[in-house]
Amino acid sequence: MSHYPPEPFRIKMVEPIRLPSPEEREAALQRVGYNLFGLRSEEVFIDLLTDSGTGAMSQEQWAALMRGDESYAGARSFYRFVETVRDIFGFRYVLPTHQGRAAENILAAILLKPGQYVPSNTHFDTTQANIRARGGVPVDLVIDEAHDPQNPHPFKGNMDIAKLRAFIQRVGPENIPFGMLTVTNNSVGGQPVSMENIRQVSQVYREYGIPFFIDACRFAENAYFIQQREPGYREKSLLDIAREMFSYADGATMSAKKDGLANIGGFLAMNDEDLYNRAAAEAVIREGFPTYGGLAGRDLEAIAVGLREALDPAYMAYRIGQVAYLHARLQEEGVPVLSPPGGHAVYLDAKALLPHIPQSQFPGQALAVALYREGAVRGVEIGSVMFAHEDPETGETVYPALELVRLAIPRRMYTQSHLDYVARVAGQVARRAEQVKGYRIVEAPPLLRHFLARFEPVP
Ligand code: F0G
Repeated sequence: MSHYPPEPFRIKMVEPIRLPSPEEREAALQRVGYNLFGLRSEEVFIDLLTDSGTGAMSQEQWAALMRGDESYAGARSFYRFVETVRDIFGFRYVLPTHQGRAAENILAAILLKPGQYVPSNTHFDTTQANIRARGGVPVDLVIDEAHDPQNPHPFKGNMDIAKLRAFIQRVGPENIPFGMLTVTNNSVGGQPVSMENIRQVSQVYREYGIPFFIDACRFAENAYFIQQREPGYREKSLLDIAREMFSYADGATMSAKKDGLANIGGFLAMNDEDLYNRAAAEAVIREGFPTYGGLAGRDLEAIAVGLREALDPAYMAYRIGQVAYLHARLQEEGVPVLSPPGGHAVYLDAKALLPHIPQSQFPGQALAVALYREGAVRGVEIGSVMFAHEDPETGETVYPALELVRLAIPRRMYTQSHLDYVARVAGQVARRAEQVKGYRIVEAPPLLRHFLARFEPVP
């Protein structure tokens, strides 16, 4: 694929970026213990660490900021925000939070007891951590196709319905306070979930009386894949598809830093009034009064505009086209990538590129460091640093099926020549792959260790 739809916008403000020298890059790597989260953004040329909160806002969003009502309680901005969320998601109650993980925390705080299970297709790491932090057990039941980096399944993010049913029967529905589904499925490659699958997941949860919450961060990208790939949806608008997706659920957690096209924010939404009252009480302790929830009024305004812009078909065709373009360029450069491309990122297959590095020496981390060293491109490891853990019964380390480096594309930010540069840098690394060495962890915290761990190269 040699092109994608031109940006449906033009640029009216620029932020300079600079390529640091090879010596500066090497010094930076040593200083941060080979953890790219430790870099200063000015040490990075093309920053593909995350698509979360990193996008460019539109002129309408900047204008909306000026209308922010900063009243402590009952702000106009809150009502504008809630009306938008209700219109798209259809849930009765909406609690703003400062970002997605805060919504997850509140949900876990009010519903989860130690020893209970929370199934999903694949939990994102913050969701996993919030469940573990309350003594719960996160369980991933994604379809097997997701573990094959080349399987062309159009909805590789789907939940395995048979596994879900068997799991519920095994542990008993009384030990599952709520069930989840992540759209798109970030941890297996930003892969979408089909409407049919959402419907089936909903049916199973309902059958067993388990409340169903969608992790909705990238709901608009998921809606676009349904429109493009699922029979019967081609003529439907992204808004109608989104509404249908959420009509099957009892609530949602949302990070507005993704498909809210905002730099900060999130929410917890639900239909159940009693649950909302408990969530609001919890939010007051942790986030703020329920009509601002840790956000400024102006943030609520920006999110209200952004949620609608994410459903613009011209924007989404460009957005998904850009991701597919980088995927195609990387393949041209001989870099193994996870296929098909997802909604927000391209995932490099570090296991395939670096077969000489065992999982205990973090091939994903090794590749992420190599990309920075080669061209000051920052991606993120999604592999054993993030997901390897001790089995509570055997004490042995359990490694994830995939070792990936995610190159996440911030929304409306980089141009095609930026993406071409990234592909060339990755191509250079791939051509000298056998020289890339593994790493070992020098120090790391017990939860979410990928943010703070320090590494050293294995000689
Ligand atoms: N769920 C998913 C699927 C996510 O991708 C994220 C964040 C969250 C929940 C948590 O949201 O950051 O607002 O607290 N993902 C970012 C990423 C950090 O880089 O993929 P948050």
